[in-house]
Amino acid sequence: MAFFLQICERMEKIIITIDGWSSCGKSTLAKQLARELHYVYIDSGAMYRAITLYFLRNHIDWTNEEAVAHALEAIKLVFMTNHKNGQTEMYLNGENVEYVIRDLVIAEKVSEVAAIKAVRAFAVARQQEMGSRKGIVMDGRDIGTTVFPSAELKIFMTADEDVRVKRRFRELYEKNPNITLEEVKHNLSMRDYIDSHREISPLRKADDAIVLDNSHLTMPQQLDIAKKWVSERMK
Ligand code: DC
Repeated sequence: MAFFLQICERMEKIIITIDGWSSCGKSTLAKQLARELHYVYIDSGAMYRAITLYFLRNHIDWTNEEAVAHALEAIKLVFMTNHKNGQTEMYLNGENVEYVIRDLVIAEKVSEVAAIKAVRAFAVARQQEMGSRKGIVMDGRDIGTTVFPSAELKIFMTADEDVRVKRRFRELYEKNPNITLEEVKHNLSMRDYIDSHREISPLRKADDAIVLDNSHLTMPQQLDIAKKWVSERMK
């Protein structure tokens, strides 16, 4: 690892994008890469989740363009590092919402909110600002296609649906033992459908992205593959 970091630190910083289906381990890989490279990690999905939380809490009718525009003016999203665990956490108007935005109540509505034109313009502008100095790993659905179309390394992650459902179920079950595998499966397929069929920036693989199918890979194995791609892009 030290050798990999030494090599990377001598090179110009790059932008790494990780897009893909829900729950295929994008954020795990993105965090690991960012840690090894001493890059910033940005979870773009957390922004859409925080906006959804704001809309739900404030009873915003998101089918009404004016109401959405007005609500967005009142939203301030900031990522801050938690120095206890080194993780970046999402703050909505000064409140740490990192935990609450992972709830299934948010997951049920977030794809609908993320399909709204004004919401996407709002989030994308902030994401582009964050990447203006490079040295960033950002995961999401449209990062390699819309947010950073000239990124040096684009990864498109995928995994078998069964594998993804089980992974997500294990995560959610820790917080809510009443949750069922069926509920999780329904939520994942619904989000994947909406995310890949929406009009603006639908989820799709960028033409120059490399596919990483991790259905049968361990985390160290997928990290090794991604690090090899990083080294190649930095040469
Ligand atoms: O990565 P995630 O599951 O936390 O993302 C939550 C939702 O946000 C996802 O269903 C689609 C949307 N999203 C998006 O439209 N564009 C992104 N760049 C990231 C997430």
